[in-house]
Amino acid sequence: EKGGYASFMLKEIADQPKAVADTLLGRVDGSGTLHLDEVRIAPGVLREVDKVVVVACGTAFHAGMIAKYAIEHWTRLPCETELASEFRYRDPILDQRTLVVAISQSGETMDTLMAVRHAREQGAKVLAICNTNGSTIPRESDAVLYTHAGPEVAVASTKAFLTQLVACYLVALYLGQVRGTKWGDEIRTVVRQLSEMSGAVERVLGTMEPVRELARSLAGHDTVLFVGRHVGYPVALEGALKLKELAYMHAEGFAAGELKHGPIALIEEGLPVVVVVPSPRGRSVLHGKIVSNIQEIRARGARTVVIAEEGDDEVVPYADHLIRIPATPTLLQPLVATVPLQVFACELATARGNEVDQPRNLAKSVTVE
Ligand code: BG6
Repeated sequence: EKGGYASFMLKEIADQPKAVADTLLGRVDGSGTLHLDEVRIAPGVLREVDKVVVVACGTAFHAGMIAKYAIEHWTRLPCETELASEFRYRDPILDQRTLVVAISQSGETMDTLMAVRHAREQGAKVLAICNTNGSTIPRESDAVLYTHAGPEVAVASTKAFLTQLVACYLVALYLGQVRGTKWGDEIRTVVRQLSEMSGAVERVLGTMEPVRELARSLAGHDTVLFVGRHVGYPVALEGALKLKELAYMHAEGFAAGELKHGPIALIEEGLPVVVVVPSPRGRSVLHGKIVSNIQEIRARGARTVVIAEEGDDEVVPYADHLIRIPATPTLLQPLVATVPLQVFACELATARGNEVDQPRNLAKSVTVE
């Protein structure tokens, strides 16, 4: 039931701190070691893997894009992420040393299931990341890591997405742990930091009133653009997808570095542009570059909505609206940066009179190809 919320989506957004914590439960210990024996692929087999391919659709695909950054960073294994619906039609190169990670909330998405079948036919090992016990995709995979989001009713995915991210980080860190990369110390530190992310998501949820107000003020607009870089790029795509699904608005996400190669031509007076700013620590080169992007966008008259870490003062002069998120390790930022975008889309849809749990033309799980 909706538990007093006006929609399942609002309830599911509010459930996220618990969903994130539940997905870590029993899998992480205080010393920063992961226990994923439930992934029944022998460590010996995982050590032999020479390539990872992530397949998924929709919101789960965005989690998969973020998984690529995490897997390549912590394991030094090449990783590609592909839309499940494109995967088998290009005759991908797969063999016994390929690990395919299939992400699906429902476990029933036909495009993803067909990708799983194709991968196994080619001899690849398939690990499913799934939220639905006993569904088809985990049944047809070699192994499964369940996300513990609880049932997700609203068509637009929210809490399942955050738990998919957690599961992707766990897989990346576990591969790193099993294979023993030079990032061993970082892996233990990040495992501990992951345990703090539920609290960080909770803090973001407590500061959403200005985001809702902003959303209502934009209800009459036709277009919103989203820009990000590094793991902020898939977050921008997810923000745009949520707005399409729920508010039926034209929304597009771009990699910030691509702006100058085309999309900047779209910028005009008053156009809302949401920018996901990477941490000023960590990959700080990127931070400086995105600050220049915000300046360029604003100089062309856009209304900038900037999502930036607490304490990041450099962005302040260029932000028409500033949304603060807690400081997190670079790769974990999507867990907090996505939340304001979910709230934004939900509120904008409501302001436009749309039904948020059952958007037009969409189904929760699509069982045709
Ligand atoms: C779409 C849903 O059709 O399927 C999306 O409307 C979802 O919300 C996508 O992200 C993938 O679904 P699943 O169950 O495979 O994660």
